[in-house]
Amino acid sequence: MTTKQFGPTKLDATKIPEIAEKWGTPVYLHDQAYIENSCEQLLNMPNAYGLHVRYAMKANSDRTVLRIVTGKGLDLDCSSLNEAARAFAAGVPYSRMMLTTQEVPSGEERAELEDMIRAGLKYNVCSMTQFKMIADFAKSINLDLSIRVHPGATGGGESATRDTGSEYSCFGVHLNNVPAVKGMADELGLRFTQVHVHIGSGGDPEKWRENIDRELGFVKAYFPDATTVSFGGGLKVARMPGEKQADIAALGAYAKQRIEEFKADTNREMQMEIEPGTFVVANSGHIITRIIDKKLTNELNFLIVDGGMELLTRPLLYGSEHPVAVVRQDGTLLSSEYDQAEPGGLKYFGIVGRCCESGDSVRLDGDGNIVPVLIAEPEIGDYVVIGGTGAYSESMSPENYNSHRKPPAVMLTRNSDLLLIRKKQSRDQIIQNELDVNI
Ligand SMILES: Cc1ncc(COP(=O)(O)O)c(C=O)c1O
Repeated sequence: MTTKQFGPTKLDATKIPEIAEKWGTPVYLHDQAYIENSCEQLLNMPNAYGLHVRYAMKANSDRTVLRIVTGKGLDLDCSSLNEAARAFAAGVPYSRMMLTTQEVPSGEERAELEDMIRAGLKYNVCSMTQFKMIADFAKSINLDLSIRVHPGATGGGESATRDTGSEYSCFGVHLNNVPAVKGMADELGLRFTQVHVHIGSGGDPEKWRENIDRELGFVKAYFPDATTVSFGGGLKVARMPGEKQADIAALGAYAKQRIEEFKADTNREMQMEIEPGTFVVANSGHIITRIIDKKLTNELNFLIVDGGMELLTRPLLYGSEHPVAVVRQDGTLLSSEYDQAEPGGLKYFGIVGRCCESGDSVRLDGDGNIVPVLIAEPEIGDYVVIGGTGAYSESMSPENYNSHRKPPAVMLTRNSDLLLIRKKQSRDQIIQNELDVNI
């Protein structure tokens, strides 16, 4: 191949051996300019009466990523008290966070939650139990609440495992229970000033549009005090070259029009909120692995690389596809799935990791069988670079499986510097909480 750059971040292949020699493999790589650009795109989304963007930090909770994103002006969506505490430790004030959680904090965590709320954390009520748990405290400090509503509508996710609006999902106060919760809030004089729906991740943008209509409908029907309507995250990102990314400008234009119609109908000006995770970071990330073995069989040729499902579980969990590039030890780009312009001389290889799991592969079909990837034939010692790994990779991996260590993470900065942002986990850290007991 003639070009040295590949992927949405225009990653320079000659950087791969440089990174590998400095920090070893496997290693997570992120790109500051890409993250900042996606933040800007989101902040420029068309809107009617104001837009508030929260980054769903579960996508990647690393402190450097949080600082980049919040530095661009995005606030945070946290899915646990631990995430909120982690963001606070990264320097983000609680007033820039909303908590949307399945947890019902009790004991020490309850006191911690109250302190966070007093410091400005927004609480998104996600169940009737949560409402009952928070109501007295909210009343005592005159706290306005957000409510997550489960809309009872399917198709919001790229797969059933990422569909949070369907009858198989339990997130939020189900629409059927909204009148009861609203009735309890009214009795106590509590207000829901924000209504929130997240229908899933990476679904058809048409479903996102449908949700806008549906949500504005129940804001009108049940929530006269709401001034903000959150349409959640889930904006689809194209990781593989053939995939179609959500059109942010078109979705924004649709939301703007519907919110303006809502104003004409109700005389209420709603601020719009969104909380994407994937869109902000997914395509900023690559995982650099090294080929440690090659097995040529009569059935399938395998490349064994030094990082797999313990770094990136999405193929095994969701059947997700991630693009693969192959780079020689001298930094020559051998082949890249991002650029299929020169397919001549390519071969199929099953690319597998080091874990003792037959599903430890970068590409699997719906039944969990390995799907071979068409690449230029590399040698042991060359690199396999996996793209689209900035979201739900290091924050979601079954790390330490087979006692592999969590790898380091590196940020390619806006000025093209390479900065280590997380050290490789030590062996001691894997076992540090284990106790020697007499049995
Ligand atoms: C409540 C909530 N908001 C936002 C997101 C972010 O979704 P995505 O990364 O698809 O944008 C999620 C993802 O699970 C979520 O559960």
